[in-house]
Amino acid sequence: MPDASADRTGPALSALLHETRQFPPPAGFAAQANAQPGIYEEAAADPLAWWERQAEHLQWEQRWDRVLEWDLPYSKWFVGGKLNASVNCVDRHVAAGIGDRVAYHWVGEPEGDTRDITYADLKDLVAQAANALVELGVEAGDRVAIYLPMIPEAVVAMLACARLGAPHSVIFGGFSADALASRILDADARVVVTADGGWRRGTASPLKPAVDAALEQCPDVRSVLVVRRTGQDVAWHEGRDHWWHDLVDRQSTTHEAEAFDAEQPLYIMYTSGTTAKPKGILHTTGGYLVHTSTTHRLVFDLKPERDVFWTAADIGWVTGHSYIVYGPLANGATSVMYEGTPDAGGQDRWWRIVEQHKVSILYTAPTTIRTLMKWGEELPAAHDLSSLRLLGSVGEPINPEAWMWYRTNVGRDRCPIVDTWWQTETGGILISPLPGITATKPGAAMRPLPGISAKVIDNDGNEVGNGEGGYLVLTEPWPGMLRGIWGDPERYQETYWSRFPGYYFAGDGAKLDDDGDLWLLGRVDDVMNVSGHRISTAEIEHALVGHPRVAEAAVVGASDATTGQAVVAFVTVKGEVEGEEGEALVRELRDHVATVISPIAKPRQILLTPDLPKTRSGKIMRRLLRDVAEHRDLGDVTTLLDSSVVSMIDEKMRTGAASDDE
Ligand code: PRX
Repeated sequence: MPDASADRTGPALSALLHETRQFPPPAGFAAQANAQPGIYEEAAADPLAWWERQAEHLQWEQRWDRVLEWDLPYSKWFVGGKLNASVNCVDRHVAAGIGDRVAYHWVGEPEGDTRDITYADLKDLVAQAANALVELGVEAGDRVAIYLPMIPEAVVAMLACARLGAPHSVIFGGFSADALASRILDADARVVVTADGGWRRGTASPLKPAVDAALEQCPDVRSVLVVRRTGQDVAWHEGRDHWWHDLVDRQSTTHEAEAFDAEQPLYIMYTSGTTAKPKGILHTTGGYLVHTSTTHRLVFDLKPERDVFWTAADIGWVTGHSYIVYGPLANGATSVMYEGTPDAGGQDRWWRIVEQHKVSILYTAPTTIRTLMKWGEELPAAHDLSSLRLLGSVGEPINPEAWMWYRTNVGRDRCPIVDTWWQTETGGILISPLPGITATKPGAAMRPLPGISAKVIDNDGNEVGNGEGGYLVLTEPWPGMLRGIWGDPERYQETYWSRFPGYYFAGDGAKLDDDGDLWLLGRVDDVMNVSGHRISTAEIEHALVGHPRVAEAAVVGASDATTGQAVVAFVTVKGEVEGEEGEALVRELRDHVATVISPIAKPRQILLTPDLPKTRSGKIMRRLLRDVAEHRDLGDVTTLLDSSVVSMIDEKMRTGAASDDE
């Protein structure tokens, strides 16, 4: 059996496996829901015909000849079809007469700094940005890196790239200069769009300096387009750098869009895998847009004329791509886009936003729900949240406690909760309840969506029965699936398609309960999930051993009540370290990880240890280290690994308790 049910699943698991409560679809919801009974059977009867019907919601310049070409592990969807993603997201809504509809209620972090952008506004902005990129020499197929805060220009830049058939690669603003450089180099981007900085809890935090530092390693980048967001001073490279307000604002608001092949690359999104090098996940246009718009319509029961949809995530991750930008815009939805942290301007900031903008659908991550929980139920209780009608969760297993808190205190027992499982690689949601049809259980993603085929299988590839756990695999291609890893076909084959030949291996453990409903249990590989961020143990180890004082490092994800998992590192150093010197070194190493990767990868604890436990073949015994990290109170302050821990490791090694480690 996989150890999915053992120790990699955060605080949720033990409670989760005993959860038996069930909530039927709320009365009054069902009759008007977008997904009606029979939808599963209808899709199962002929999945390709079903997806084809979903594709008809989009505007195609040329209709496809074939829905799917499947040459495992490569799929092509809507073969022969031509469309433009940006036209589908913007122009066609204006042409259909809804140009006055708000696309985004943008809420800046500083109080009162808001902007409503209609579809007509967006059309002009995207055309101008596309014209500006053309002036910078961007052509179809060129890659453009985007490193921006959560401001409207991020969406505009993405759509401008899509309009030109130039794949964008959005890099989360929290990444360091080194991380940015490696992504720019891997994608071979020649243009970077950034800002002077962004607002973070009342402070202007810089972005442009990281770009300047990164570009010292990226000589092929010829242009940088810079949005002025905070007014900070920035260094300027004449000839290379252009202010957005100079270059974009003077462009024409007309741009004739070309229709591209359905398989035209739309974007590359870097995500962590089991090695130190991030993977560039490639998504293309037609299938991705069909997948994201369909799931957005069905899972969130979107009624574009009246809903206000809020995905509270960052545009630098796939959730932002699919459910802040492409899905909602393709459906002509009105979204809230919020720049700041949940506590910027007070811990009730979110509830004020919901109240003010009459948000009807809220989509966020369990880690945030747990944080909101810590801040107390009085905060949501003090606001009028009656506009809410549906709640969503994404990014990690949600523990029943958090689920129930969300249901009771935010949804006031009226709103169904959709726990949506998917990945950067899947492009859009694959497993989730459908509101109006599916009963929900606190902590369960319930069942694959119509048109999706998933199974839970054991080590030998056999399907498990109800009440059993195993590995989650996808047995048929789906329209939003990744089309490969940028520049690395072997890794694509190896990572996803070799563990169980013929199946896509998600890297997640799952369980079917006695009713046959699906529960996700967390990663079964060396990928951690910290606050819903996917982080590789190998990447942090690589960063640590890059420090001159470090001889060897092992990183594990330990359960954490708020963040799901937390990074704990065990480090052996070169030479002797004692007392205060050790504490200083630990601080230095934590900062080093933040500098090399990102503050989100900073270890919660670093334990300096004379040795790392290893198997006879020399592999680090991570499971043992996880035990140490999870089951012992090592205190908050990182210290030398004390002798009792070492003896515990010794003891376990002697008794063979760790001999089954990978
Ligand atoms: O382990 C699963 C977890 O997040 C991983 C994907 O991370 P990423 O590519 O960053 O995408 C996150 C947003 C889609 C998965 O392999 N995960 C995501 N959603 C859930 C989840 N685990 C349990 N339940 C979920 N609803």
